[in-house]
Amino acid sequence: MKKHAFVVFFAAVLFFLFFLSPIAPFSFSPCLNFPAFAQDTSSSGEMIKLPAPQHKGSVSVEAALTERRSIRSYRDDPLTIPEISQLLWACQGITEPKRGLRTAPSARATYLLEVYLLSGNVANLRKGMYRYEPNGHGLVKIAEGDIKEDLFKAVGQTPIKNAPAVLVFFGKTERAMTQRWIFLEAGHAAQNVYLQGVSLGIGGVVMAGFIDEQVRKALNMPENRQPAYIMPIGRVK
Ligand SMILES: Cc1cc2nc3c(=O)[nH]c(=O)nc-3n(C[C@H](O)[C@H](O)[C@H](O)COP(=O)(O)O)c2cc1C
Repeated sequence: MKKHAFVVFFAAVLFFLFFLSPIAPFSFSPCLNFPAFAQDTSSSGEMIKLPAPQHKGSVSVEAALTERRSIRSYRDDPLTIPEISQLLWACQGITEPKRGLRTAPSARATYLLEVYLLSGNVANLRKGMYRYEPNGHGLVKIAEGDIKEDLFKAVGQTPIKNAPAVLVFFGKTERAMTQRWIFLEAGHAAQNVYLQGVSLGIGGVVMAGFIDEQVRKALNMPENRQPAYIMPIGRVK
């Protein structure tokens, strides 16, 4: 009888983990669409609040699509925090706070991306690595120093060196039912940055020509973060 009770208990735990728990990656539970799970709660350091993004601009979607190009050389002048704010909002900003839905789509609203800013020449922002927090629209400092240069040394590709800033898209593998979802989500988010960039006179290029482990090592990222894109950004010449 005791054995039977244990088996029932064990089955109940398994049922909870795989079908009800919001973090269960194979769950088919509608819980996965609830906002609490759509936002990253792993932030540690103090958050640098970014200015509110603009929701109206003077460039049409059609014009942005027509003008979008991959840009690999940039003007020397710094980017500004409002520009960084706007680009990060376009990338992963929350547009429906009730459910935590964002500018870019996400499979089952699981929000698999973590987007990092490597600042090299951003006015009023120290050189370093910052994680974008959609929840609260801010930056959390991860490390200080010329991390962009570290990434360039690891990966090559001169736009990383020359750009005033670089965005790095990682996927949270523990949350992804399939790795494919990470790459698809990164594609949506990066295209948003391209299009928003057109309206700001800021260009960039998505890069996936790198060895995952070298990117992880340069940025001190754990095994469960899958690099998807590196995107240098800067003012168009
Ligand atoms: C999946 C993917 C990976 C890419 N990787 C690189 C890269 O490593 N380095 C680079 O300079 N451009 C890279 N690109 C940018 C392409 O070279 C660029 O999109 C292509 O030449 C077309 O130019 P356009 O974006 O200006 O239309 C990549 C694009 C995609 C979609």
